[in-house]
Amino acid sequence: MEKNKENKKIIVIHGPNLNTLGQREPGVYGSTTLKQINENLKKIGLQLNLNIETFQSNYEGAIVEKIQESLGECDGLIINPAAYTHTSIAIRDAILLLDIPVVEVHISNIYKREPFRHKSMIADVAMAQLSGFGVYGYEMAIRAVEKIIQV
Ligand code: DQA
Repeated sequence: MEKNKENKKIIVIHGPNLNTLGQREPGVYGSTTLKQINENLKKIGLQLNLNIETFQSNYEGAIVEKIQESLGECDGLIINPAAYTHTSIAIRDAILLLDIPVVEVHISNIYKREPFRHKSMIADVAMAQLSGFGVYGYEMAIRAVEKIIQV
């Protein structure tokens, strides 16, 4: 059965160390906490009639399992894989399971930072990447995915 807009669900996955936002390198990542980011995204979800689920883990396998669970359950995936961006073939392969818009988000501009952050294992299997808009990148990603999945 075709789902209508009210049922559409976007999952937002946050990778390792993002649970410490607010305390972690505020000069790079700002002062907004993960709780505040998630609350804002849920508020936007209410405005757009979208169901927004959020998930954070410091464990690669837990992130892989969450992506697998999204199959058939979610209409869009927004993911900040954090440090796993640069290393995780497992997260890349899990994303390849899905046939929904996937947006990779980074708070900082990874291309203005250390060379090891310039390589993303995810970028070429995602629909798009947003990097350097601060925490606003998550909101941009939600609004863009909403436009793409709306019936
Ligand atoms: C990050 C960038 C990554 O290089 C880093 O490991 C993070 C956060 C970002 O949001 O800017 O943990 O993904």
